[in-house]
Amino acid sequence: MSELLLKGGRVLDPASGKDGRADVRIADGRIVEVADGLDGGSAEVVDCSGLWVMPGFVDLHTHLREPGFEDAEDVATGTAAAAAGGYTAVCSMANTDPVTDIAAIADMVRRRGREVGLADVFPVGAITKGLAGENLTEFADMQRVAGVDMFSDDGKPVADALVMRRALQYATAFDVVICNHSEDPSLTEGAQMNEGAMSSVLGLPGWPHEAEEVMIARDLILAAGANARLHVPHVSTAGSVELIRAAKARGIRVTAEVTPHHLTLDDGLVSAYDPNHKVNPPLRAVADVEALRAALADGTIDAVATDHAPHPPETKDQEWHHAPCGMLGLETAFAVLYSELVEPGHVDLLTLIARFTTGPAGVRNVGEHAGGVVEGAAANLAVVDPEARWTVEGRALHSRARNTPFEGRKLATRPVHTVLRGRFTLRDGSVQA
Ligand code: DOR
Repeated sequence: MSELLLKGGRVLDPASGKDGRADVRIADGRIVEVADGLDGGSAEVVDCSGLWVMPGFVDLHTHLREPGFEDAEDVATGTAAAAAGGYTAVCSMANTDPVTDIAAIADMVRRRGREVGLADVFPVGAITKGLAGENLTEFADMQRVAGVDMFSDDGKPVADALVMRRALQYATAFDVVICNHSEDPSLTEGAQMNEGAMSSVLGLPGWPHEAEEVMIARDLILAAGANARLHVPHVSTAGSVELIRAAKARGIRVTAEVTPHHLTLDDGLVSAYDPNHKVNPPLRAVADVEALRAALADGTIDAVATDHAPHPPETKDQEWHHAPCGMLGLETAFAVLYSELVEPGHVDLLTLIARFTTGPAGVRNVGEHAGGVVEGAAANLAVVDPEARWTVEGRALHSRARNTPFEGRKLATRPVHTVLRGRFTLRDGSVQA
């Protein structure tokens, strides 16, 4: 297999704490040497001067839509978007059709990822059959056959406390993680946006922050009782942050993620009625955004996760009331958060990189991803140009869909190369299909 030498880059690696200039030699899919002044020898030398070399990003929350909704996305287009965004691993959500609630489907999605070769796909299995919130799926079967160690009915909550309690208890037998979509449906019926000053002005039915917090509080109590691992997806309110912070302090086994859009956008945007700003949970108030930023910085929130949720234009481009919830995220995540959080000084660079790499890798098993830019680690890397400046254009993204909430936004930094086991999946800004 070919040898590569990434020469002259600034290695930024939260796993080892390294931040400094070094060359990275790769052979047979692994990092074999990291040091300054390495000789090219027989390796292909790739000039990385002026670039940042980091572990490949890991997304805990990606809707790849295959099987069943390939008009929105499939494994090939979704992982192309991942590669373009610097990701080497994505966790595909279970709200497919058929639902990813048996081992054969999870295994099919994982294998399809391998076949395409643009990012490793780690499926998330459904907690309940058909996402119906009633009967548990076969966790052990999905784990054994397809390596599934996280379960979620994402898009829908497990509303029944008894079912959730059983899921958490059952999960402990296999040491798997339960990720419940935190929304009490009795509080969100007919809701169209965050409940608050803006929903009053616009006259739209509101989605109260309590709907999320009630569910997280319940789940934390149940997880503590079962001594189970709970992962809270797309945290969106200041109250949720407080609950998670307190639970961590008490030793409850909880991890949490936040999306780039909840960290950078607020419910004031809804006044333009652009359906690309419609999402579940909804964009919240400015005070929530600030609390999420602080929680990302201090580690209360472990990971940035995109909740990349493609929808085809014919369903997304409708009047606000009729449009489905969801936003693209994979290709813009790092640049958005660098531009909005690191450049203005809210979060430091190495911390942000940790939330894209070691953070998510600590939530579930993602194999050899985020293992660090160190000798012996798998060569899964993201190489980013810190000087790149670009403007987001939905139709230019690799996703099959276009529903980015960041259309027209000018961003700083962009991935130029992504390397999966020593092979380029993105090279000089081009996805290597
Ligand atoms: O906005 C969302 N879209 N939130 C979810 O939880 C599900 C997702 C989807 O599948 O479209």
